[in-house]
Amino acid sequence: AMSDIKAVRGRFFDFTQPVSHAGELAQSARIMDDGLLLMEQGRILSLRPWSTAAPDISPGMEICHFPGKIIVPGFIDSHLHYPQTEIIGSYGNQLLEWLNTYTFPAEEQYHCPEHAGEMASFFLDQLLRNGTTTAMIFGTVHAQSVDSLFAAALERNMRIIAGKVMMDRNAPPELLETPEHSEAETRALINRWHHNGRLSYALTPRFAPTSSPDLLAMVGGLRREFPDLYLQTHLSENRHEIAWVKSLFPDHAGYLDVYHHYGLTGRKSVFAHCLHLDVEEWRTLERSHSSIAFCPTSNLFLGSGLFNLQTCWDHHIPLGIGTDVGAGTTFNLLQTLAEAYKVGQLQGYCLSVYEAFYHATLGAAQALALDGVLGNFMPGKEADFVVLDPAATPLQRLRQQKSTDFAERMFALMMLGDDRNIYQTWIQGQPAYCRDSTVKSGL
Ligand code: GUN
Ligand code: ZN
Repeated sequence: AMSDIKAVRGRFFDFTQPVSHAGELAQSARIMDDGLLLMEQGRILSLRPWSTAAPDISPGMEICHFPGKIIVPGFIDSHLHYPQTEIIGSYGNQLLEWLNTYTFPAEEQYHCPEHAGEMASFFLDQLLRNGTTTAMIFGTVHAQSVDSLFAAALERNMRIIAGKVMMDRNAPPELLETPEHSEAETRALINRWHHNGRLSYALTPRFAPTSSPDLLAMVGGLRREFPDLYLQTHLSENRHEIAWVKSLFPDHAGYLDVYHHYGLTGRKSVFAHCLHLDVEEWRTLERSHSSIAFCPTSNLFLGSGLFNLQTCWDHHIPLGIGTDVGAGTTFNLLQTLAEAYKVGQLQGYCLSVYEAFYHATLGAAQALALDGVLGNFMPGKEADFVVLDPAATPLQRLRQQKSTDFAERMFALMMLGDDRNIYQTWIQGQPAYCRDSTVKSGL
C-alpha cells in the first residue's frame, strides 16, 4: 500500500559506483540539490530530482523535508572496539604499554553480562548519535561480550559485523583461552548470530603477538569451512609491535606473512592500520583481495605512524575508515575524516572531500563487501542515512555563508564538524536518532 512508502526531501550527496582510482571519484559523485527519496520496507525505491518527482507523489503522502541540510548514506566505521569505550582518551603510552595499562584491564570486566549489556547499548547509541549506521566491531575474548552486542544491535535493526576476540598468549591470564575453547565458543556464536537479521560474524584473532601458531591454524580452518565469514585483525601498527612479531615468528618473511600463511587474507578480511608495510606486503594485500581500515585518530593518538593513502590507491586495495575507539579519540567520522586529511597533509597528499566521504560510505561498503546492500541511494539498497546540519554552531554558520561551492562547504563541514552536526540518523527507513529531541531532553 502507498501508505507504507516513506518520503524524504532535501539535498542528497552520494557516490553511484565504487571506483578503483581517485581520479574516478568526481564521475561517481552525485549531488542532488533538491531530491525526493522514496523508501518502502526499509529499502530505497528511488531518488529523483524534486522537479521530476511529481508522478511519484500520491495525495496525502507525508514528506519529511530537510531544507538547509545535507543527506548522505549512513557512515560506516570499519574498525573499532566496543569494550574500550570507557577508556577512550587514556594518557601517555604507545600501543603495547597502552594495551597493558588500560585496555586489558577494561576488557577483563566483560566477563560480566550486566556490564557487557549496559556498555553494548551505550556504545551503539554513540554510533547512532554520530551518524554511524554500520560498523565492524571487536568484542572481548568473552563470548558474552558478543552476545550482548549482537542482541543490542538486533533491537536497533543495525547492520553490524562483530566477533569475539581470540587470543591464547601474551595477555593477562583472565583474557586467555585455549585454541580448542576459542573454536568451540566461536562456532556457537556463528550459529547464533551469523546472518541473524542484518548481523554478520567476523573471526577476530586480536593480532599476531597474542596468537600461537595453533590458534592461527584453527582460525584458518574456520575461514576455509565458512568462506562467507568476515575476518578482522590488526597489522603493522607500531614499530615495537612489528619487531615483536618478527621475534615470535622468526620463520616468516614479515608480519603479514604470518596471517597469509594461515589463510587469513582474502576478500572480507579487514586489516586495521597497515602503517609500515613493505612492498611485498602491499602486493600480498592486493593479490589476496584483502581490505584495509585506516584509523587516523588512533594512529596519531598512539603515535603509531602515518597511513599512505596514495600507496593504497596504487594497489587498488579497498579502504574503509575506522575510529578505532578506544585508541581512537572520537566516535565521530567527520572528526575522523578531518584527521585523515591532516595525515595526508603531513605526507604531501591532499585528501579531497569527495575521497573522504567515499571512504566513509560507499568505499567502506566495498571494503566490507556490502556495496551490494548499502553505501549509497541506489534503488534496492537498505535505507540507512544521515541528515547533516552543516551550520550547527555560530562559527560553522559564518563559514558556510562565506561560500556557495558545494565541495568547499562540505570540506568546511568535515574540518569543523562533530556530533553537533548529526541532525538525524535513519535506520531502515525510520528515524533512529534525532538531535533536536536529544538536546531538548538534555541527553
Ligand atoms: N593491536 C592489538 N590490539 C589492539 C587494540 O585493542 N587496539 C589497537 N589500536 N591496536 C591493537
Ligand atoms: Zn583496533
